[in-house]
Amino acid sequence: MTHHNFGGDWTTEKLERIRKYLSAYMMIFSRNKRAQNLTPIYIDAFAGTGYRTISHPHKEIGVPLPELTETDNEEFLKGSARIALEIEPPFKRYIFIERDRHRANELENLKAEFSQMRSSIEIIIADANTYLKQWCARMTDRMRSVLFLDPYGMQVEWSLIEMIAKTKKIDLWILFPLGIAVNRLLTRASLPPEQWAQTLTRIFGTEEWKGYFYPQRKVTTLFGEQEQQIREADYNRISEFFIMRLKTIFPAVAENPLPLLNSRNNPLYLLCFAASNPRGAPTAVKIAQDILGKS
Ligand SMILES: C[S@@+](CC[C@H](N)C(=O)[O-])C[C@H]1O[C@@H](n2cnc3c(N)ncnc32)[C@H](O)[C@@H]1O
Repeated sequence: MTHHNFGGDWTTEKLERIRKYLSAYMMIFSRNKRAQNLTPIYIDAFAGTGYRTISHPHKEIGVPLPELTETDNEEFLKGSARIALEIEPPFKRYIFIERDRHRANELENLKAEFSQMRSSIEIIIADANTYLKQWCARMTDRMRSVLFLDPYGMQVEWSLIEMIAKTKKIDLWILFPLGIAVNRLLTRASLPPEQWAQTLTRIFGTEEWKGYFYPQRKVTTLFGEQEQQIREADYNRISEFFIMRLKTIFPAVAENPLPLLNSRNNPLYLLCFAASNPRGAPTAVKIAQDILGKS
């Protein structure tokens, strides 16, 4: 078994929100007569292995255990793919996308474990952006989907989010890399260097972030008053901008995205929700906001 060690308490918080939404989605779907001809599909685009491990440092146990290796002291928890497979009633199809071949192999084990659903599970070894763009273009009218984008960093391009919105059939949960990446690229003294700026433009899908995070201000220098672009971007402002961007392309977006905090209370990620189906969006967002608002 390859180790897939990531996240802390915030990971549990994140996955619990996803579990609740998937459960509510399938409950409503199964009770809706009009939905009987539709195929509900769960897509996990950064699927991992199906489980995650947390290492407990020996000192946390309170007794010296020198004979134990790190592995002895690891706890195995469910990852998003496994959580999705346990939802009742189940989705008709599960698509797990994972770029890493070894992790994708681990996902294959889920087919044996959930053998009665084996034929509903597709494991795709691919880059999520490339595969999903093609998949969105191929989606038929009969399909409806919940898509979870759970990257480590800045892997999700805005051009993909646009394609998702255009389908009008996908409910999107996305982990936005607020503190882990974006905040770090927004340099303090002046606009970020060109390569970083391009990365930010790729994630926001516009250069408007420059004016939003670095407004022109008059500053007094040794040579008199000068116009300068000074960073005015805290975590709230960055979150606000990303939600504003989502609102430009989705009919409804949850107003209370959840900051996922590290042990020092700094945001690592922002868990966001957007619904693309104009008819279902108000209900979907109401449910998501409720789930996001509860601990
Ligand atoms: C945070 S982990 C996902 C955890 C998973 N959602 C869970 O709860 O168990 C991110 C995963 O995305 C994979 N990954 C990274 N870049 C990718 C890409 N461009 N396309 C597809 N998968 C990618 C990594 O190999 C890693 O397994």
